[in-house]
Amino acid sequence: MKKTYNIAIDGPAGAGKSTIARRVAEKLGFVYVDTGAMYRAMALYFLRKGFDLKDEDKVGKACREISVDIRYENGEQQVLLNEENVSGLIRTEEVGNAASAISAYPAVRAALLELQRTLARTSDVIMDGRDIGTLVLPEADCKIYLTASTKVRAVRRYKELEEKGMVCSLEEIERDIIERDNRDMNREIAPLTQAEDAVYLDASAMTIDQVVEKIIALARERGLEQ
Ligand code: DC
Repeated sequence: MKKTYNIAIDGPAGAGKSTIARRVAEKLGFVYVDTGAMYRAMALYFLRKGFDLKDEDKVGKACREISVDIRYENGEQQVLLNEENVSGLIRTEEVGNAASAISAYPAVRAALLELQRTLARTSDVIMDGRDIGTLVLPEADCKIYLTASTKVRAVRRYKELEEKGMVCSLEEIERDIIERDNRDMNREIAPLTQAEDAVYLDASAMTIDQVVEKIIALARERGLEQ
């Protein structure tokens, strides 16, 4: 079987990973894999069932009851939680924060690793997350660490939420982002960190198109033929 081409994008919340990865995937005809959505689906399960998210033992054991899968509809990733399509329910701040909390547990990460690796083995993918270049796909052909200042990321989130008609305060969002970064970067297992061979991209002063073009150019430099 022909080896697939894998692009890994890691970085903190709100850096624009998913928007950019989706566009790169469209341009290259790759599959976009949003691993954050998988953690969010698991978090939704625990929130719905009223779990105490600090209870690692209980959360870990319950992972056996959960199956997360993905499928694609018109090129868009859909996340299935025990066969239910939950894609429309996982984009809230509450679910994002819960995902950040439970993703620090080894049992939760183990439940998703094989699915992520299988997707990368079977298709050309651009996969985004926190540990893709470091742990999930250490052999990825092209690795990017995408970030932006906390202020830029907070303003972006604020606008997104405002567009959805949600009332929020910029200060609160910035505080939330800093807290989430701290948790994701300082946990014991699979912390968010730049892989040694990843290219560092600070998108604070770049447009989306500039970042997309830069990533495609980097992939070409790293053996992508098209
Ligand atoms: O990218 P996101 O905001 O949808 O991710 C939600 C949370 O899931 C994030 O705060 C940390 C966790 N996550 C992770 O630990 N590893 C990944 N590869 C992706 C997400």
